[in-house]
Amino acid sequence: MEKLVKLQIDGKEVHAPAGMNLIDAGHLADVFIPNLCYLKGMKGFGACRLCLVEVEGMKSPVIACNTKVREGMVVHTQTEKVRDIRRFILDLILAIHPLDCMTCTKAGICKLQEYAYEYELKGTSFTRKKMGYPIDQINPFIRRDPEYCILCGRCVRVCKEQGTNVLDFIGRGINAEIGTAYNKSLRESGCTFCGSCIDACPVNALPEADRWRKGREWEYKKIQSVCLLCGSGCDILVSVKDGSIQKINTGEKPGSAKKYICAYGRFGYDCIEERTKLVSPLKRVKGELRETTWKDALSIVAGKLKDAGKNTGFISTAGIMNEDALALKKFAKNVVKTKNFDTTLSLYSDVHSLRDSQSALITNSDLLVLVGLNPSQWNRVLPALDASIRKRVNRGGKLIVMNSSDTRIEEAAMLSLKGDELQILKGVAKALIDRGLKADKQLKTAVRDAEITEDMEKAAKLIAEADRPILFTSPSLFDAAANISLIKGRVIAVGLESNARGIALAGLSTEGKTYKEMVNDRMKVLYAVGEVPLTSRPAADFLVVQTSHFTDLAEQADIVLPSTTSFETEGTMIDYLGRLKHINQVIEPMGLTKSHRDILIALSKIIKPAIKKPTDAEIKKMSKGKQKLAFSPFVRKEGFDISPHEFIEAVNASVLKGRRLSWLKEALAAVAV
Ligand code: SF4
Ligand code: SF4
Ligand code: SF4
Ligand code: FES
Repeated sequence: MEKLVKLQIDGKEVHAPAGMNLIDAGHLADVFIPNLCYLKGMKGFGACRLCLVEVEGMKSPVIACNTKVREGMVVHTQTEKVRDIRRFILDLILAIHPLDCMTCTKAGICKLQEYAYEYELKGTSFTRKKMGYPIDQINPFIRRDPEYCILCGRCVRVCKEQGTNVLDFIGRGINAEIGTAYNKSLRESGCTFCGSCIDACPVNALPEADRWRKGREWEYKKIQSVCLLCGSGCDILVSVKDGSIQKINTGEKPGSAKKYICAYGRFGYDCIEERTKLVSPLKRVKGELRETTWKDALSIVAGKLKDAGKNTGFISTAGIMNEDALALKKFAKNVVKTKNFDTTLSLYSDVHSLRDSQSALITNSDLLVLVGLNPSQWNRVLPALDASIRKRVNRGGKLIVMNSSDTRIEEAAMLSLKGDELQILKGVAKALIDRGLKADKQLKTAVRDAEITEDMEKAAKLIAEADRPILFTSPSLFDAAANISLIKGRVIAVGLESNARGIALAGLSTEGKTYKEMVNDRMKVLYAVGEVPLTSRPAADFLVVQTSHFTDLAEQADIVLPSTTSFETEGTMIDYLGRLKHINQVIEPMGLTKSHRDILIALSKIIKPAIKKPTDAEIKKMSKGKQKLAFSPFVRKEGFDISPHEFIEAVNASVLKGRRLSWLKEALAAVAV
């Protein structure tokens, strides 16, 4: 158990974990120590000196962000001495900072504004100086305006900690500034436009490029939700004004650098304003898709489904919510009475690997092992997993990479084992058993003849010595990697789509034809749900496409049913770590759009029997699952050989057609050339 230290802060008794700094210890007693450069979860940096406090028995004030709690410590955070020093520091900052709070975008959440108010500073007593730095605004995402910069270094530290390393301090003293290598624009500096620096910056030096006059901070309704664009399933905070989304930030409290979101999750929401967003049902008349009513569209689809019955196929993405997945399964089985229902999950995983994955938290783990997985912030394959792993490593965790191909993440690893992952896993399992760790008889027999290399021995040592190791694996290697977790650690297969684990737990996997078979065989009716990544028409007699945007597949459909996006729908998903997450509706459904489940329920009322909306109890029950890990032979599951990058781009094609992400695609392509 964590050792607690007793101390006093501003007369309040605090019991804080040993090793905690005074800023965080103050929070435990609702004492807020002013700070500008501190980021919760990171080591104190000591750049701003605003967090100075007095400790009884010490001659000079100390910085709270870098001073650890000690038994019996008596701390004063509001003495005249420290308040005077803070006022002096703020006075100095204001001498080189624009005083345009009345129109500044950051007004309302600017830390400098907050402290200037608290310390009664309307301006500076020093001679004001304008630095005349150029503004970097040749990208549609981030406006970098160094004139506002107070050199707190938060942006530099988050960018470094997550491994992107674009920003740094340049120059010294009064000439110090934050910049990029060779003073290039963000676009030319390898920036991924994740915007972590936007969330970190306490002032107006790094706002979103389009924030100017999009409303004041206090006018926004802030709604927590989840990004469903990739298997990371990141928490997001959506700011809404007048019924439309104004910006998206990471779903954590300001002043903390724990969570990450990528450019897709932060900026991709503009796709809901694109003309490709569907707002009305469409039906094909004389070769052309024309608008029609829901009544007409539903009655045509119901008729076709009744007629086709078991010759109907349902294909869906694994990015739909749990409620939609359960409704789709019930609709297919109980209403249309077909066994053919499958999702894109079957292109990169079997159901068992995701359903039987264990749960764990990266932040609690001291050793992460990547087996055959290649997450990357740069090509946006599970970018948040890449960033979280790098952060964990930078905060003291260790990383082992096992991969037969080169990966960029191995630059953060303590140990990188190259070669066939199965041989590596076998060798490591044998080395663990040789070290005296317990394993069952079958496993011992399976690895008896395995060769143990020096690196395998090192990996086994790291695993044996770790307290909470986690193995993240590609689904095709899950069974083999799970054998290690039978000896030690937790094992998690990572899917490429946000709700892959939820889909597996909901049992939305075929009892008849597979996704590929339904696409290639001639189904009487093929019914596609979500942004199914097909560009040409499958060989179906009748094609129904139920989607939020006019996708390539929708263009080929006989009937198009307009569904809501995740911003317009409430529901749940289960992330790759096994957490059930709530998705809040942030805006009203556009036009005549309906949620996937509501469309299916409406159809069931025509075809009969009518199905009901899945209940919270059903969702909770399915989310629990029961992991059944047992020894499996060391084999790679075949048939999952799609390119993760191409697949993720394909399922997000409509989001990528939004104005800003189209720019990003072109910019990255230009850099690649
Ligand atoms: S957007 Fe991301 S990669 Fe670019 S500078 Fe900011 S933190 Fe670094
Ligand atoms: S740009 Fe913002 S976060 Fe970065 S050092 Fe300047 S004030 Fe701090
Ligand atoms: S990493 Fe994936 S889930 Fe997270 S913000 Fe980006 S696209 Fe969304
Ligand atoms: S917060 Fe402690 S020095 Fe800045």
